[in-house]
Amino acid sequence: MSLSKAPKAKNPAELDWSNLGFTYMNLPYRYRAYWRDGEWRDAGLTEDATITINEGSTSLHYGQEVFEGLKAYRCKDGSINLFRPDQNAQRMQNSCERLMMPKVPTEMFISALKSVVKANEEYIPPYGTGGTLYLRPYLIGVGGNIGVHPAEEYIFSIFAMPVGNYFKGGLTPTNFIASEYDRAAHKGTGASKVGGNYAASLFPGQLAHDAGFSDCIYLDPINHQKIEEVGSANFFGITKDGKFVTPKSPSILPSVTKFSLLYLAEHNFGMETEQGDIYIDQLDHFAEAGACGTAAVISPIGGFQYGDHFHVFYSKTEVGPVTRKLYDELTGIQFGDVKAPEGWIEKV
Ligand code: PLP
Ligand code: COI
Repeated sequence: MSLSKAPKAKNPAELDWSNLGFTYMNLPYRYRAYWRDGEWRDAGLTEDATITINEGSTSLHYGQEVFEGLKAYRCKDGSINLFRPDQNAQRMQNSCERLMMPKVPTEMFISALKSVVKANEEYIPPYGTGGTLYLRPYLIGVGGNIGVHPAEEYIFSIFAMPVGNYFKGGLTPTNFIASEYDRAAHKGTGASKVGGNYAASLFPGQLAHDAGFSDCIYLDPINHQKIEEVGSANFFGITKDGKFVTPKSPSILPSVTKFSLLYLAEHNFGMETEQGDIYIDQLDHFAEAGACGTAAVISPIGGFQYGDHFHVFYSKTEVGPVTRKLYDELTGIQFGDVKAPEGWIEKV
């Protein structure tokens, strides 16, 4: 019996590109490479969506797993853009260091991404539909181990799927609630993109959904007084005097989108920017707020529930003007309509 068979994705002609949501699809091809005896070997594309590994694998017992998320964009002229894939390669290398895993060199990471995009090209949503091809690289420790120590063998793989909005609202604001739980400890693994952080987020995320919110907002794990993450995205706020502010903490994921917005706010819009503390009792300083990330893109935060308070940032129904301006600039660059800063776009 196999519990992991997923039906093949529908024919691209049958997909509703403008209403994709964020759901797994079993596309024709994925990339695999195997680490054994100190080197990557047997790298290439496969049609097999399943992986058979030893029952003693460290990824199964001790969470020795890292992953990434980035997108391929179909441009108006038909060409295909990857957005800052070198940054994802670097972050995965940092995550690997934290979990004592072999690194995937940047060049190998980017050429593997391109091979997956090309092989599944007909699943890239057409320009203008708002859809993108989401790419999920991951690396797992495998082999017959049981002691708590790093594996000797690893599998690196990348699969893809066409996606639309991650949070249902898209650019319409949705509401979030502060979690009583933490996704990561102060000096734990929050800054690494590792499966364990997401396992820890499942229960608080479900509580938030059950209470009618899009997701939960995690507060600093030491005192629960400062905003840290918005589910699987970083937080940003625009102060009433027009500053772009985003939290600084060792337990949040260094978001490629966040760093890109910090750059664009400063260089393209001349805004003051700051990475600092965002206290939940000082939210009145902010005129707008949002979540940012590859999957979330920029998702405006309408209301934020913490304890008995319900704080509305800009509006419960309308996206604020600065958030919209940043969204247009970022997505314009990603889809090739706006000139990108040097090195941000990798053509497939
Ligand atoms: N924070 C968390 C916990 C995430 O999972 C993600 C998604 O990758 C982000 C932030 C946003 O990071 P990025 O902009 O690099 O996708
Ligand atoms: C991404 O934005 O790429 C993420 O990894 C979020 C994901 C956990 C859904």
